[in-house]
Amino acid sequence: MTQFFPCILTLIAAASLTVAGCSTSTPESPRRARAPFGHVDGKDVFIYTLRNASGMEARITNYGGIVVSLTVPDRSKKPGDIVLGYDSLSSYLTGKSYFGAIVGRYGNRIGKARFTLDGKEYTLNVNDGANTLHGGLKGFDKVVWDVDESTPATQPVLSLSHLSNDGEEGYPGNLKASVVYTLTDSNELRIDYAASTDKPTVLNLTHHSYFNLAGAGNGDILSHQVMLNADGFTPVDAGLITTGEIRPVAGTPMDFRTPAAVGSRIGASDEQLRLGRGYDHNWVLNRTGEGLSLAARVTESTSGRVMEVWTTQPGVQFYTGNFLDGTAVGKGGKTYAYRTGLCLETQHFPDSPNKPSFPTTVLRPGEKFSSTTIYKFSTQ
Ligand code: GLA
Repeated sequence: MTQFFPCILTLIAAASLTVAGCSTSTPESPRRARAPFGHVDGKDVFIYTLRNASGMEARITNYGGIVVSLTVPDRSKKPGDIVLGYDSLSSYLTGKSYFGAIVGRYGNRIGKARFTLDGKEYTLNVNDGANTLHGGLKGFDKVVWDVDESTPATQPVLSLSHLSNDGEEGYPGNLKASVVYTLTDSNELRIDYAASTDKPTVLNLTHHSYFNLAGAGNGDILSHQVMLNADGFTPVDAGLITTGEIRPVAGTPMDFRTPAAVGSRIGASDEQLRLGRGYDHNWVLNRTGEGLSLAARVTESTSGRVMEVWTTQPGVQFYTGNFLDGTAVGKGGKTYAYRTGLCLETQHFPDSPNKPSFPTTVLRPGEKFSSTTIYKFSTQ
């Protein structure tokens, strides 16, 4: 009992306090707590603190489903926040980097902001050159999600849902989307996505955390070692739109089948690296069947942290923070310079609605879309 109360107090004060541990709590102890974060569109916004039994904590807001912080022990059990983000809701409202957000309806780009489905052309909002990016002007990263508060607070689970109206951003169909975040006792941040529609539409949901396993704001990610479980990738044109080709990674700087430092080839003279300003491409994952399969493994030697990414999705966007420029003031007043975070956005391939040879992103009435991605942490 004496060890129980500090945990309760910590959870009550969870919005402003980051306290490690509480591993002495019982299964009945609160594992989710809520604190106000502000208001958007006349709706209340909260930060939910999820805590597992192994010293990991995730703070997630229902604005954009954003993971604001993710605290993971290093090899000496010292906790550290390993995702980029902001301290205030107002910074998330004006930020342009999609830090930690759920991205939809369509993650990444659709070329010329249009597509044809069942013989009908749909025109989408343009927000990236001539193209649409990450759902358009007001994507799923910029809406207040509904929270299922009936999920027992004894579980480190946050259940979010959002209804995207027919015609929003140009997409057809009323789309019901749900995202469930779970922090497991095996130090996994698990994301379960689901969606249904009342008209044929296209869909590509992803998560956009920028990871720095040495700690957010602690330098660049160029010495992180990355393994990507992919024999191929989808090359892009000058607008970062996929060309339709799936190209073998063998013999190119895109080959991460054996672990390599992010920075080891990023400066190579290579057309795709030049077009992407670095790595900003979709890798075609080597999958074994339908279920969860290993997409990526990242290690960082100073902290000893290891992150594995498992997914049911066919692709992953490996993005090395090439648009970060140090102007945004992040958590604790730290700024995030060029390449100080890396994203592993599990997904369908960019511009699939215009690329019939890619796996389909069409969702029809009566179908249920579901997918799962797990970010799993350990140390070595
Ligand atoms: C994705 C894209 C990048 C960039 C970032 C957000 O990863 O592929 O080109 O738009 O999101 O800045």
